[in-house]
Amino acid sequence: MKIAVIGTGYVGLVTGTCLAETGNDVICVDINETKVKKMQNGEVPIYEPGLDLLFHRNIAQGRLTFTTNLADAVKDAQIIFMALPTPPGGDGAADLSYILGAAKDISKLITEYKVIVNKSTVPVGTADKVKAVFQEHTSIEVDVVSNPEFLREGVAVDDFMKPDRVVLGTKSERAKKLMAELYGPYVRQGNPILFMDERSSELTKYAANSFLATKITFMNEVANLCELVGADVDAVRKGIGSDERIGKRFLFPGVGYGGSCFPKDVQALVKSSDDYEYDFQILKSVMEVNERQKTILVDKVLKYYKNDIKGKHFALWGLAFKPETDDIREAPALYIINALIENGATVTVFDPEAMENVAGIIGDKVKYAKNQYEALVDADALLIATEWSVFRNPDFEKIDKVLKNKVIFDGRNLYDLQKMIDLGYYYNSIGRKLLTP
Ligand code: UDX
Repeated sequence: MKIAVIGTGYVGLVTGTCLAETGNDVICVDINETKVKKMQNGEVPIYEPGLDLLFHRNIAQGRLTFTTNLADAVKDAQIIFMALPTPPGGDGAADLSYILGAAKDISKLITEYKVIVNKSTVPVGTADKVKAVFQEHTSIEVDVVSNPEFLREGVAVDDFMKPDRVVLGTKSERAKKLMAELYGPYVRQGNPILFMDERSSELTKYAANSFLATKITFMNEVANLCELVGADVDAVRKGIGSDERIGKRFLFPGVGYGGSCFPKDVQALVKSSDDYEYDFQILKSVMEVNERQKTILVDKVLKYYKNDIKGKHFALWGLAFKPETDDIREAPALYIINALIENGATVTVFDPEAMENVAGIIGDKVKYAKNQYEALVDADALLIATEWSVFRNPDFEKIDKVLKNKVIFDGRNLYDLQKMIDLGYYYNSIGRKLLTP
C-alpha cells in the first residue's frame, strides 16, 4: 500500500519505518529541512533500540523515503497518517493547531479519496474537528480514522510490530477494510484489531495512560506507607501482582512517572473532564502525588543530612525518564538536580544516553562524568534516578575507592538488601527497609 506519514517525531518515525517493514511504500514528511536531509542521508534522529536496522534496510530497498514537500507525499498515498505534536496549551488542554493546520493543507492538495489517520494523542472530538476542516475546504471524500499509538519508548519497534491490540475509531466500512488490510501483518499472533467509534477510540488512549499512571502512583503511595509501617514493598508488590486481576506489570515504585506521555495525558484528561464539568478526582490526586514523588529522594537526602546539604557534593546516576531512551522530558532526575542545587549542593551526573539532552537544558549547573565511576569522585553520596542495566550490578570495590562515604539513595530499588548489608552501606531505597550500618 502507499502510505504518507506527516511528522517524523518519535511516533511518526517509528510508524513510518515499521509500516515500510511489511512491504508498504512509505513517504515521511517533515517541515524541518535539516532533519529531513539527515534522514535522507541515513541518519536516525532519535535513539531507539532496533530502529536503525529497520530504518536502513527499508531506505536501502526504496520503501522508506523522506521529503519536506507535502504535495509529493500526499499525491499517491492511499492512507495519510498524521503524527503531529499536541503540546499542552496554556490551560493544560492539548493544542490542536498542528493537526488542524495539516488537515487544512492536505485538504487543498487531494484529488481523490483518502483515509486520514490520526496517530497523535488528541482530546475526544478531534476526529470530528478534522472532518469539519476537510468538509470546509474540499468536496473530495475522505474518511478520518482515530488510531491511537500505545508504543513505549525503548521498546517502540517491538510494540509496533507486535501490538497487544490495534484500536481504530471509524464508522466507515471503506476505511475499516483498508486499515484492516494494513494492520493485518502486525496482529498475526491473534491480538485483536478493535474497531469502535472515533470518540471511544480517542478516549481509550487517555484512559489507558491515565490508568497506568494511576497504577504506578498507587504503588508509590503503598511504598511510602511501607517505610512507615515497616513492610517491604517488593513483597507487597509480588503479593498483589500475582492476582491476575491486578497484574504484575507497572507496579514498580520509584521517583515518579515522567516522559512525554503520562504527565501530559493525565493533565489533558483532567482538563477535558473539567470542560464537561466532570471532576475527575482520582486523576487530580495522581498528579499531586506524582509531583511529590519526584523529589522524594531529595527529601530522604535532606533528612539524612539534617536539612543542611550546603557544600555537599552528590553523584547522580540516571537522567533519562526511563532506561533505553535519551528522552528527558519530565524526567524526575531534572527535579532532583534542581532541588539539590537549590539547597546549596553540587552535582556530577552520568547517564548512558541522555547527557547531551541534559546539557542542552541545564548547561554547566552540573558536572558531566565520562562514566558512572568518574561521577562518584569526591561525592558524599550516590543518588540513582533511572534503572539502566549498567547500574544494576556495578563494581562495588571501584565504588568504594572513589565515593567518599558508603551512602546510596536509590530511587529505583536496584540492589538486594542483604547484599547492601554485607557491603556495609547506608542504603535508602523506596518502600524498603532503611539500612544503616
Ligand atoms: C507510555 C505508555 O506505556 C505507552 O503505551 C504510551 O504510548 C506512551 O506512554 P513511555 O512514556 O514510553 O510509554 O514509558 P513507560 O514505560 O510507560 O513509562 C512511563 C513512566 O512510568 C516512566 O517514568 C517509568 O519510569 C514509570 N514507571 C513505569 C514506574 O515508575 N513504574 C513502573 O512500574 C512502570
